[in-house]
Amino acid sequence: MADDALVVFTPSGKRGRFALGTPVLLAARQLGVDIDSVCGGRGICGRCQVAVSEGEFAKFGLTSASGNLSPWSEMEERYVAQHGALDESRRLSCASEIRGDLVVDVPAASQIHRQIVRKRVESRAIDIVPLVKLHYVELGKPSIDDQTSDFSRLRAALEDEWGLSMRAPGLAFLQALPWALRQGDWNVTVALREADHPIAVWPGFRDQAHGLAVDVGTTTIAAHLCDLHSGDVLAASGAMNPQIRFGEDLISRVSYLQLNPEEAGTLSAVVRRAITELAAETCVEAGIEVGDILEVSFVGNPIMHHILLGLDPLQLGRAPFPLVVDEAVTVSADDLELGFHAGAQAYLLPCIAGHVGADTAGVLLSESPHKSDDLVLIADVGTNAEIVLGNNERLLACSSPTGPAFEGAQIDAGQRAAPGAIERVRIDRRTLAPRFSVIGSEIWSDEPGFAEAIAGFGVTGICGSGIIEAVAEMHLAGILADSGLIDGKSAANDPANNPHMVADGRVFAYRLHSGPPTIDITQTDVRAIQLAKAALYAGARLLMDKLGVASVDRIVLAGAFGSYIDPLHAMALGMIPDCPLDRVSSAGNAAGTGARIALLNGDMRGEIEELVRRVEKIETAAAPEFQDYFVAAMPLPHKDHEFPNLRLALDNGRS
Ligand code: FES
Repeated sequence: MADDALVVFTPSGKRGRFALGTPVLLAARQLGVDIDSVCGGRGICGRCQVAVSEGEFAKFGLTSASGNLSPWSEMEERYVAQHGALDESRRLSCASEIRGDLVVDVPAASQIHRQIVRKRVESRAIDIVPLVKLHYVELGKPSIDDQTSDFSRLRAALEDEWGLSMRAPGLAFLQALPWALRQGDWNVTVALREADHPIAVWPGFRDQAHGLAVDVGTTTIAAHLCDLHSGDVLAASGAMNPQIRFGEDLISRVSYLQLNPEEAGTLSAVVRRAITELAAETCVEAGIEVGDILEVSFVGNPIMHHILLGLDPLQLGRAPFPLVVDEAVTVSADDLELGFHAGAQAYLLPCIAGHVGADTAGVLLSESPHKSDDLVLIADVGTNAEIVLGNNERLLACSSPTGPAFEGAQIDAGQRAAPGAIERVRIDRRTLAPRFSVIGSEIWSDEPGFAEAIAGFGVTGICGSGIIEAVAEMHLAGILADSGLIDGKSAANDPANNPHMVADGRVFAYRLHSGPPTIDITQTDVRAIQLAKAALYAGARLLMDKLGVASVDRIVLAGAFGSYIDPLHAMALGMIPDCPLDRVSSAGNAAGTGARIALLNGDMRGEIEELVRRVEKIETAAAPEFQDYFVAAMPLPHKDHEFPNLRLALDNGRS
């Protein structure tokens, strides 16, 4: 009888012959098969699970059977007693030995590098390449004959068990080490960043590492708390940026700092405090401490980026807008006073130019236009719109000052996207009666069960996607003239006698919800949306001109304005150029998704750092034609441009 056996691992297809009695995990390691482990093969973490594929495999020339593994072991019994049964046919690869030929399947959950599927509105899966990994080690105790230092003892154990060598630790790590070793009776879990940088140590076994991805917008801040191993979003939260009290948009915040230079520290402090508060909210939801956060990634426009880091942003307010630093920045999270783990590191994606920041880098990571054959236009809409145009040959980017209207600010009943905010609107073309739905419920306001569905939060206001649909619908229903005036003249009914039209000085407002609270779309709201959409459209046309194209193949709309933007309404408003409607998609908060990708995939950091160097930056403030484009884009949908695809969709009855 042979004293070795052929073992094939799937899905990688890696294979080799191993002596009978070899643990499956060891065989996998020797072949370089991607199997996770935190406990180093002690049957504690359960990360190393595999399944034997049964049957004859002609292509491998072997017959595989679960009987070719050693019987159920004591270690597995112990694991099951503590954690519950394994899925059917699963085994712990560290606790089972090779007894004959095998085809061993490594399920996705047992792989270190795996994919997580993104939400409906997002396009691709995220590959996980963890930057921080946990390693459990059991150390020998010191004695009078062995006075090896705590750190040397740990270094030797990690080298022995994991084949890893550590670089010099930071002070916080050294301060935590003696306590962790003694508290854990010389058994500890160590977090290594980039394979060799020790950043955290805990007594005993620990198997979860946490990170936070943050999108610092001018108006809103969004945070996602993630499990760094699985990539799962454990909790998400958002809030208004408290810097708003120093100015609603970037220019007014920079002007404030010009007048009050001594307040620069205050602006940094308030945004950092807001991030800590958001982190705390997500941690409470996930049942962990803020001090458990080991890694944080940030995206934000150049001014938010500089203020967060405590860098002087004043030069970004005047031509030629030089950045202090455009490369990616990694600093200790402690330097930003965030209150995370003392060893936590903060990564800020690279900026591209004075007006095109780390948020655009996030959009590039999320949407990968550089891998597209199609010519794609991506607009990430916030208080500034980050606009990218290009494909696998060329990429152009600019930033356009849309103002905060698309995020629900500067709108009478506006609010950020949160449960209770109106996000979809339809207006009856004949009676002008509105119907709407709010975030947190799928049911429309004129459907049975609406009141019950929203009982927990009620109708609270209108968010960016809601106001976009409301204004577009008002125009399609004839309530709004092409100029954007709510003159009521073109309304199907006499506005003075229509219960949905409310006299407001010499114009009208449109009553979307009679309350409580009363939600009217006012002339001022419409003007704010017109300014925003004209800025976005003008930026897009500027990039198209620079690239020498009259149309694009595909459009991606992203932003924190709501979960979904209806392509027809965006086009009816004239936010985006004409394009077949089925080629317009929503990507949710693409910059925020980019922050999440950079948090979960160390390799992608290198990719984006290289990619941003290839982006051609277009400065809207320096382009004389931008102003003309802007003025021409104020009417709905546009003063001159034709929208044949929109017309076709409307003629076919889409609304
Ligand atoms: Fe931890 Fe097998 S490696 S249980």
